[in-house]
Amino acid sequence: MVNVGIIGAGRIGQVHARSILTGVPDARILSIADPYMSESVAAWAREAGIEGVYKDHRKIMEDPRVEAVLICSSTDTHAQLSLEAIAAGKHVFCEKPIDQKLDRIGEVKAALAASPKSLKYQVGFNRRFDHNFRALKDAVDAGKIGEVQFIRVSSRDPEPPPAGYVKGSGGIFLDMMIHDLDMLRYLSGSEIEEVYATGAVLIDPAIGAAGDVDTATVSARMKNGALALIDNSRKAVYGYDQRAEVFGSKGCVACGNDTASSAVLSTAEGVVSEKPLWFFLQRYMGSYQAEVRLFIESVVKDTPVAVGVADGLLSIKLGLACKKSMEEHRPVRIDEINP
Ligand SMILES: NC(=O)c1ccc[n+]([C@@H]2O[C@H](COP(=O)([O-])OP(=O)(O)OC[C@H]3O[C@@H](n4cnc5c(N)ncnc54)[C@H](O)[C@@H]3O)[C@@H](O)[C@H]2O)c1
Repeated sequence: MVNVGIIGAGRIGQVHARSILTGVPDARILSIADPYMSESVAAWAREAGIEGVYKDHRKIMEDPRVEAVLICSSTDTHAQLSLEAIAAGKHVFCEKPIDQKLDRIGEVKAALAASPKSLKYQVGFNRRFDHNFRALKDAVDAGKIGEVQFIRVSSRDPEPPPAGYVKGSGGIFLDMMIHDLDMLRYLSGSEIEEVYATGAVLIDPAIGAAGDVDTATVSARMKNGALALIDNSRKAVYGYDQRAEVFGSKGCVACGNDTASSAVLSTAEGVVSEKPLWFFLQRYMGSYQAEVRLFIESVVKDTPVAVGVADGLLSIKLGLACKKSMEEHRPVRIDEINP
């Protein structure tokens, strides 16, 4: 049994807490901390049997019984909290991104390497554990589509975030497309060599005023020679649109959206099926539970984590390359981006 503490009790902190409570039998949540925790969340945590409900995360760091922490707080706190947890000798599951700055992630990487304990550090790229994307990966790995030649990832949110959020988010490439860039690496089994990114403000002028775009595409070249395309939109009126396709020398494998049911209604007016599930909290619940289960398994069995600090670092490099490409209107090689 691994005793864990959860830092940050917002949307994703509650998701991970519920995942552990309902389906990670090898983990026990000892405590949860959030300086702005609402009374209702605190009451829910106590009712769920969580012994320590704190405002100050240091109570978790100082508790010798806590072996692993889940960092689920706002992005700008991840690197600092990671450093504190590593210094306290705790295994870490950190939500993406570790930080928006490469040198800060480098500090976390160095602290892990310097730790006298062999600590696990997993980053929250949950889509690798989604049942649909996992099926694509399995088909590619089994050689069913031959040599990978082309990958396409579409990722479109149902509604844009508030402009206030956009300011601190690092922009669409670091905040949103980071998952899709990681998906290209995951599905291809190769690395991204070069990207060409374009973006536009087509949905909300306030996002433009905050210095970001709400619509973006990236064309990428992989080291194994495959080509790839990503499209992102902050607003798809029909719901959370999450699809991917891998095309190769022997065939193609693709996945569509998850829906509440597979019912299709056919009438004289037309043929209608369900819309995609609304957003990430509906669409990716299974993947959130699977990633935490695997993290705990790595701690218990002392095996390597599925997504480590190097993947977290690379994802930011890729996001920064996309940003630079869009700003400079030119293809950018990933090795141009250095801390
Ligand atoms: N992997 C995914 O699919 C996914 C999905 C959503 C969010 N995230 C990531 O998770 C993080 C949190 O996002 P969210 O949507 O839950 O945001 P949120 O605003 O709902 O929750 C963040 C919480 O962190 C708390 N917090 C801030 N500083 C803290 C500190 N020092 N100690 C403890 N708590 C602190 C805030 O009070 C807030 O309650 C972000 O970094 C985001 O990028 C990942």
